Amino acid sequence: MWIEAPELYWEDCQVTMARLAAAERQIDLAVTSPPYMVEQPYEAGMEWIEYQDLLWNTYVGLDTILKPGGYFVINFGDQCRGKQLLGTQVPSTIPMSVTHWDCGRGVGWELQATRVWRKKRRGMGIPFVCNHYPRPVYDYEHIWTWRKCAETHHEVVRNRAMSQWGVLEFEGDLPKKRHVAAFPLGLPEWAIQVYSDIGNLVYDPFMGSGTTGFAALTLERRFIGSEIDESLREQVENFLA
Ligand SMILES: C[S@@+](CC[C@H](N)C(=O)[O-])C[C@H]1O[C@@H](n2cnc3c(N)ncnc32)[C@H](O)[C@@H]1O
Repeated sequence: MWIEAPELYWEDCQVTMARLAAAERQIDLAVTSPPYMVEQPYEAGMEWIEYQDLLWNTYVGLDTILKPGGYFVINFGDQCRGKQLLGTQVPSTIPMSVTHWDCGRGVGWELQATRVWRKKRRGMGIPFVCNHYPRPVYDYEHIWTWRKCAETHHEVVRNRAMSQWGVLEFEGDLPKKRHVAAFPLGLPEWAIQVYSDIGNLVYDPFMGSGTTGFAALTLERRFIGSEIDESLREQVENFLA
C-alpha cells in the first residue's frame, strides 16, 4: 500500500492539535511518551503546576481530534523528582498514574487496559534493576490504553494475541542513540498493531526522535508528529524518509 509522507510539525503539540481540529481532521490512534519532568534539557525548570497543565492540555487536545472509539496509548513512568517537589532530602517517587487517571477520566474516556513495559537492559547492555536509594530507579514503566467513548464500550483490538500481553519486554535497538528519552521501537509497533488498521492515521504529540512515526510508516499507517525541539528536525526527517 502506498503511504503518504509523514506530516511533521516543529511546534508545541497544542498548536498542532488546534490546527488539526480547525481543519476537522481526526486521528485513529495516538501513541506517545510525554515529558517525564525528570530534568531532561527540554523540561528544565518546569514547575509541577506547569507539568500538570501540560498533561491535562494534551488529553484535552487529543479529545478534540481523536475519532470516537479511537485509542490513546501512553507510556509514562513514576517520576522521582521529589527532592524539589516534596522538599525531601533525596528524590522520591511520584505515582503518575493518579494524574493520568484524573486527566483521562476528566475528558470522559475509558481506561481500557494498563500494562507494564519491563526494561530488560540499559543502553550498554547492562541488565536493568530496581533501586530505591539514593534515587529511585525502576526497571519498568506504565503503558496505558485509553479509549474515547463511542456508542459501544467494546474493546476493538486488531491483534487479540498481542493485546493479551500484560508485561511487554523490549530491548535491542539502543534507542538512546537517537534521543535521551526514546522508547524502543517495539513499543509503538505493538500499540499500532493492536489498536489500528493499515492506512489509519497515527499521531504522536511528543514525537522526539520519531520512533512512533517509524513504526507507523513501516506498518503502513499514516503519521503526524509534533516536536518542539527543532534541533531534531534533520535527524527525524532522515529517519522517516
Ligand atoms: C519523552 S520524549 C519522547 C521520545 C520519543 N518517544 C522517542 O522515542 O524519541 C518527549 C519529547 O517531547 C518534546 N516536547 C516537550 N514539550 C513539548 C510540546 N509542548 N510539544 C511538542 N513536543 C514537546 C521534547 O522535546 C521531547 O523530545
